[in-house]
Amino acid sequence: MEKNYWFRLLYYLSITAIEQSITPQASLTLRTMAKPLPHDHVIPFKDSEKGKKEQVAEMFDRIACRYDFMNRFLSARTDVRWRKKAISFLKKDQPKTILDIATGTGDMAIMACKMLDPDRITGIDISTQMLEVGRKKIEKEGLVDKIQLQHGDSETINFAENTFDAGMVAFGVRNFENLEKGLSEILRVLKPGGQLVILEFTKPPQPVRGLYNLYMGIVAPQLARWFKQNKEAYQYLNESANAFPARAHLRDILTKVGFSDTRYKSLSLGICCIYTGRKPVR
Ligand SMILES: C[S@@+](CC[C@H](N)C(=O)[O-])C[C@H]1O[C@@H](n2cnc3c(N)ncnc32)[C@H](O)[C@@H]1O
Repeated sequence: MEKNYWFRLLYYLSITAIEQSITPQASLTLRTMAKPLPHDHVIPFKDSEKGKKEQVAEMFDRIACRYDFMNRFLSARTDVRWRKKAISFLKKDQPKTILDIATGTGDMAIMACKMLDPDRITGIDISTQMLEVGRKKIEKEGLVDKIQLQHGDSETINFAENTFDAGMVAFGVRNFENLEKGLSEILRVLKPGGQLVILEFTKPPQPVRGLYNLYMGIVAPQLARWFKQNKEAYQYLNESANAFPARAHLRDILTKVGFSDTRYKSLSLGICCIYTGRKPVR
């Protein structure tokens, strides 16, 4: 077994013990004071000189052709249920224009198109290869008139303010180089009253956490290896999910950058979480 794994496990157990030994309020204060956010520094390729954004784009370019298959396989199709649940939060609003940030291969855009029947969905992503796979899927689904995918960075979104009725990010915020910058940009391009829905992995509470760590830290990277997948991608998934601000913390960050009515809902025993917030109507 990798030395690295034992080190991570030891580190993780120490952090958990420290977190449990302080009061929830003190813990929140400590975490919100922490700047920059720890996950901003989690990168896929430890030996690379490139910045996080470039590395993330390169990693997703490499795994793009098997990304959908691995998603379905490793989550036993649970991701489909999570996506549907997240999109259903937008149903009441009946958004006509939707921005899917970090759209990847366009799964959320395609599903939202079918569930919400908007006029237009725009998907942006920094990985050219993920977008290529997505475009082929959209063509196959006959949705080219409704969904456009384009190269774009969440931290400098190439649209004017107040453009979209709603925004979605599935399994994307964890990959942003600067989380707060990305969320502020999304807020800028939403129309007042527009809702953002985020779907992201979270650290589940004990005792599920032990099993989750085992699966994410050992089983998933090993399965990925058997499928000749990029091992770094699944190690990065585990590390970034562990370092990412969870639940109340991420909700507080959404409030801090200017979203109102911010909430979260845990899914599947806390493995995943849906966060929502609205652009305030002034
Ligand atoms: C785990 S994939 C999720 C893709 C898709 N949303 C889904 O649900 O399957 C993460 C995606 O985020 C993209 N990404 C990471 N940082 C980004 C950024 N700053 N701006 C836009 N996309 C970004 C990656 O290229 C990748 O396609």
